[in-house]
Amino acid sequence: MYYSDEIRNQVISANDIVDVIGQYVELKRSGSQYMGLCPFHSEHTPSFSVSRTKQVYHCFGCGESGNVITFLKKYNNMTYQEAMEYLASRAGIVLPKEEASPEQKERNKKRDILFSINKDTATYYYRLLRSPKGQKGMAYLKGRALSDKTMNQFGLGYADGGNSDLVRYLQEKGYSSKDILDSGVAVFREKDGLKDKFWNRVMYPIMDASGRVIAFGGRVMGDGIPKYLNSPETLIFEKKKNLYGLNIARNTVRNKDKDYFILCEGYMDVISQHQAGFPMAIASLGTSFTVEQAQVIRRYVTHVFLAYDSDGAGVRAAMRNIGILRDAGVSARVIDLRPYKDPDEFCKNLGTEEYQKRIDNAENSFYYQIRQIEGNYRLDDPESRTAFYHEIAKRLCGFDDEMERENYISAMAQKYGIQRDVLSREVAGYKEAGIGRQSFSEGPVRITPAPQNPTAQKKASSIEKAKLRNEGLLLTWISDDPDVYLQIRDYIGPEDFSEGLAREAAQDYFKMLEEHYGDPLKVEAEGTKAPGFTPAIVIGSFEDEDEQKDVADIFNTRIKGLTTQPEREKAFKDVVLSVKRASMENIKASNATGALGKIAKIKKQMEEIQRMHITFKAAEES
Ligand code: CTP
Ligand code: MN
Repeated sequence: MYYSDEIRNQVISANDIVDVIGQYVELKRSGSQYMGLCPFHSEHTPSFSVSRTKQVYHCFGCGESGNVITFLKKYNNMTYQEAMEYLASRAGIVLPKEEASPEQKERNKKRDILFSINKDTATYYYRLLRSPKGQKGMAYLKGRALSDKTMNQFGLGYADGGNSDLVRYLQEKGYSSKDILDSGVAVFREKDGLKDKFWNRVMYPIMDASGRVIAFGGRVMGDGIPKYLNSPETLIFEKKKNLYGLNIARNTVRNKDKDYFILCEGYMDVISQHQAGFPMAIASLGTSFTVEQAQVIRRYVTHVFLAYDSDGAGVRAAMRNIGILRDAGVSARVIDLRPYKDPDEFCKNLGTEEYQKRIDNAENSFYYQIRQIEGNYRLDDPESRTAFYHEIAKRLCGFDDEMERENYISAMAQKYGIQRDVLSREVAGYKEAGIGRQSFSEGPVRITPAPQNPTAQKKASSIEKAKLRNEGLLLTWISDDPDVYLQIRDYIGPEDFSEGLAREAAQDYFKMLEEHYGDPLKVEAEGTKAPGFTPAIVIGSFEDEDEQKDVADIFNTRIKGLTTQPEREKAFKDVVLSVKRASMENIKASNATGALGKIAKIKKQMEEIQRMHITFKAAEES
């Protein structure tokens, strides 16, 4: 069911979040916030905050945040639809019956059909494996030491034949040929029409994070080619965003006693590790690991253990993915699987305890990278050794956090017998020259020096991150104290924010504020607590659940306890200036027409901001 923004906003506004959450969590007032024990992780001192002004909740412990709808979905396992219905009836609002745009309805319907076909197909393969016709598949999987329990947990199945049994089965269930074809489980042949895509393979259903079957991987039993045949991308299957095993692994970190996943390469690796007692194992799907997958991982954990094959390809993948993970805010350690090839073989040969030891001894990813690079140099040759040290210095520039960088400089100096202050000066020199940021993603084989051109390195994602953080701070600040918006509205706009979620959130939120403050009577009557302009509304306007969480986070960027007016003013101005500066850099880099004019304008604005006085409502902190 699709509801218009208007209806959704009405429902959100009519249900005060403090009252709703108060039904489930004991909340105590503390300053402008309400605090309680977080229902999403276990804790003894309250770090779960609910804000009446913002109409959002946020846990400083586990990072959960969202609006009243997100809360109900999470806490009560309600669907969006159910949450809307509950809140509407709670507030005496009658929800309209049908509202989806025709295209949207079409798309939703199609998606539902594809989910349904995939589910029925999974059931079909599942039963076949456990029937007399599935003996060959069963023998193969048993031969790989999988228990019945494991096979059931992963919904493993079997496709026999080489005909159209599945297609016929689905047709009998009433699915159209077009839908069957679009689901990817069948292929069309000029000669003989619709045929099963998979045959003579054991089948691994691929599920999304919530456990719905979205595709299949089919493995030949033996040495055939291709080893794996996978479903094509469909309306419900986007390879680059999904991770095999995530539907199970995510449950292992629910209460945050654990904060890591084990990332590996293969379906079988995930399954074997799971059987050995490591249900936090996940794998990318046959393609190389993507930035999107790293971001998905970041929503659940901040640490990853890499369990990649111990061959050359595995090392290359690890070298590359350490950087991708790091850029997404996930730190990695590398598990040494030698003498075995992959986690599957390791677990089967040495078992749970030994594997746990390898996890405990996993190598810091920076050490790992440097150790791999070391192989390209001859340390007994002064020239080569010098080049190696330069390379270390360059890579050390990748740490933006000064404390962290210092620690690594010490560690490297000690490990490789470099004089600490020499190394430290070298790093500082590189940083100064602007050629510092050597992406962590780069492979071991590059011996040529990094490009000496600062703009080439400009896309450093650490800069992006700092930028996003400042933007989040600014929005948080304004949402804590919307009156400051009036003081800076002429100096800042959505176009100053990073493209994507941040800009969209700013756009929606500023529009709301403008509508509110544009009407002096309304301000007079309702003050800043007017319904309809809380960040909760902005959050609600994003469709995707994960996006909602990201936006909620933007509005909850932590502001340090600043108490005095001058402190607050300085900090706030710094944030505004940083956002403006980043915006200016962005324009500079774009080389767009009219850039010069825009830059001049921003410079002027920045000067004015420096001179401004900003007043805040009485400082109150959580
Ligand atoms: N893969 C694929 N198509 C292939 C080969 C591999 O999609 N032809 C993907 C699969 O997702 C596979 C992963 O790459 O799981 C890793 O490949 P590999 O290590 O060869 O497979 P394993 O999962 O280890 O399978 P097995 O142990 O059964 O050989
Ligand atoms: Mn394998």
